[in-house]
Amino acid sequence: MIGPPLDEPIHESGPRLAVLLAAELGGDGPLYRRVADALKRLVDRGDVPLGTVLPAERALARALAVSRSTVVTAYDRLKAEGWLESRRGSGTWVRRPEERRPRVDAVATGRLFLSADGQVQRSEPGRGDLLPDTVDLSVAALPASPTVRAVLGRPTPPGLAGLLDHHGYLPQGLPELRAAVAGRCLERGLATDPDQLVVTTGAHQALSLIARQTIQPGDAVVVETPTFPGLLDVFRRFGARAVPLPVDEHGARTELLDELVERTGARLVYVGPDHHNPTGTVMPLERRRLVAAVAERRDVVVIEDQAMAELALTDAPLPPPISSLGEGQVLSVGSTAKPYWAGLRVGWVRTPRAWVVRMLSTKTVADLGSSLLDQLHAAELIHRRDEVLAERRAELVPRRDRLAAALRAALPTWTFDVPAGGLSLWVQLPHGNAEEFAELALSHGVAVVPGPALSVDDGNRRALRLSYVVDVDELDRAVARLAEAWAAYQPSAPRPSARLVV
Ligand SMILES: Cc1ncc(COP(=O)(O)O)c(C=O)c1O
Repeated sequence: MIGPPLDEPIHESGPRLAVLLAAELGGDGPLYRRVADALKRLVDRGDVPLGTVLPAERALARALAVSRSTVVTAYDRLKAEGWLESRRGSGTWVRRPEERRPRVDAVATGRLFLSADGQVQRSEPGRGDLLPDTVDLSVAALPASPTVRAVLGRPTPPGLAGLLDHHGYLPQGLPELRAAVAGRCLERGLATDPDQLVVTTGAHQALSLIARQTIQPGDAVVVETPTFPGLLDVFRRFGARAVPLPVDEHGARTELLDELVERTGARLVYVGPDHHNPTGTVMPLERRRLVAAVAERRDVVVIEDQAMAELALTDAPLPPPISSLGEGQVLSVGSTAKPYWAGLRVGWVRTPRAWVVRMLSTKTVADLGSSLLDQLHAAELIHRRDEVLAERRAELVPRRDRLAAALRAALPTWTFDVPAGGLSLWVQLPHGNAEEFAELALSHGVAVVPGPALSVDDGNRRALRLSYVVDVDELDRAVARLAEAWAAYQPSAPRPSARLVV
């Protein structure tokens, strides 16, 4: 389409649209989102007919007595969702509902990895929608370490020649890799037969395969909150009703778990006990025992996500995995992404014996197996684990400490605990709204993740995740920009709608 669909489109004026919108702006959440939602309701009711050309952002902002950036962000969001279209010279108009884009799966992960309109990868060099100078603290993942570069940079990985004589379909995964992972499980106190392991395309696919087997639309699943955003998208995709399990400085508050599972009839529980993403907390042994006991007592499947486990920043050993503490259905998910490199896309799931057949069958249907070349590399990296983890600790400890010190100096009202592992600080703002502030921080050149993007029911509205994945100079730059943004930040407190009308 090259312009609005009507020959003589209705042109809505700023003041009139502001009156209609103001009556719909109740509720909480960032103002731009309330403006966007209000406009959708007006379109749904026919108060703003399809094809209507909307006022320019500045005119509507003036009439609503809000900042221009609020209206710009609301329009951008509506465009990304397919409710608005614009063209230079024709303005911005309301689209026909049947032209809305198909349902989009990547709700939480989309904001980390995709551009605002969902059309390109967000940080793809030269193409994404982050400005080139942006300091990106939004993604919790590191570039390859020197040892990882050396291993992946070799033209012919050892073991390749033998592998090439095989036809190449191994849905359960390369035996050498499963043996290496089983060895690592045993070191952590979890006796594992390599046949209990299925290799997956990242831990993310492991989570998706488990969800596919356990969740029917409408089922309750208990999810710690905050959590890793990919998990929220996977559960949403399978129609789960997420029940929040709060997290404190010792990880998920498992004393609430038994009652939550009983009350909601949850089929699945998800926890990240080892350097939890985003808080970095380590769940103590007593809490792990509680989870194992609930898994045994109730007919509930537990996922323990160990993707962050290897990123310890102290010498304290991790308590044993939950799956080693009972006979319940506990599945452990792991990955090469955080210690080694996310681009490998190699993860795994360790299942109880009763699950092996169905897990293997689900993986086979999903994709007939993950890349064997990547698994060869992954096996070698696990054998060189000590070298890589030493490199990781040497880069991460100074970064974590620098970020903490810089924040304390420049933003003393922000609060956080310094984590024992993982890749991020989980910061509480003293007031305001993290989503609004994250938008503002982006316009000051720093990308951070607001708490609601990592939370069930858009919770943790005053929290931010700041990943210490860039070098110390960039961290300094990021904190200076965050301080600048914070000084400029004026929270848009929920206001009575009458005050918004000019
Ligand atoms: C806790 C957690 N689990 C799983 C994943 C996904 O891992 P992978 O890249 O192996 O799919 C991540 C990535 O951020 C994570 O933080």
